[in-house]
Amino acid sequence: MAEETKDEIKKTEDVNRRQFFMRLGLGSLSIAAAGTAAFSYQFLEPNVLFEPSPVVNAGKPDRYPLDSVTLDVNTGIYIIHSQEGYFSLSAVCTHLGCLTVWKPELGIIACPCHGSKFDQSGKKIEGPAPRPLPWKRIWLNDDGDLLVDRSTDVPPLGRDSFVRV
Ligand code: FES
Repeated sequence: MAEETKDEIKKTEDVNRRQFFMRLGLGSLSIAAAGTAAFSYQFLEPNVLFEPSPVVNAGKPDRYPLDSVTLDVNTGIYIIHSQEGYFSLSAVCTHLGCLTVWKPELGIIACPCHGSKFDQSGKKIEGPAPRPLPWKRIWLNDDGDLLVDRSTDVPPLGRDSFVRV
C-alpha cells in the first residue's frame, strides 16, 4: 500500500514538472511570437513622413510697403516689394543653411552664422556662401493673396519672377 502511494506521489510530481516545463515552453514561444509579430508589422508598415505644403500664403500685397524686405521666420522666405513688383527669396543661407536676417540700417541680408552678406536681390556681397539666395516662384491666387512655392526656384530678375499688382 505504501509503495503504491509513493508511486502515485512520484507520478503526480512528474506530471507537475512536465506541466511546468510545458507552460514555460509555451510562454517562451508566445513571447517570441509576439516579438516577431511586432517587428514584422514595423517592417511592413511604410515609413511615411508627412511634411507641410511647400506653398505659403503670404497674404495680401498691401501688407508689404514699397521698398520693404519682410522676413517670415516660420516659412524661411522673404517677400520683397520693389519698384519692379513683388518677389520672394529663400531666407536660408546657401552656405550651411542658417536663417538669414534683414538689416535695414545696412540695407543687406546677413547670415549670423559665418558672416555671409547678400543684397536685396539675393546676390552675394561677401562671405563663404557659395551661391546667391534663390528666388522662389510667386503668384497671386483668386482671392488676391500672394502665394510662394518654396520648392520651386525661378531665375533672378526674370519676367515671371515678379508679381505686379
Ligand atoms: S551658414 Fe550662412 S555663412 Fe555659413
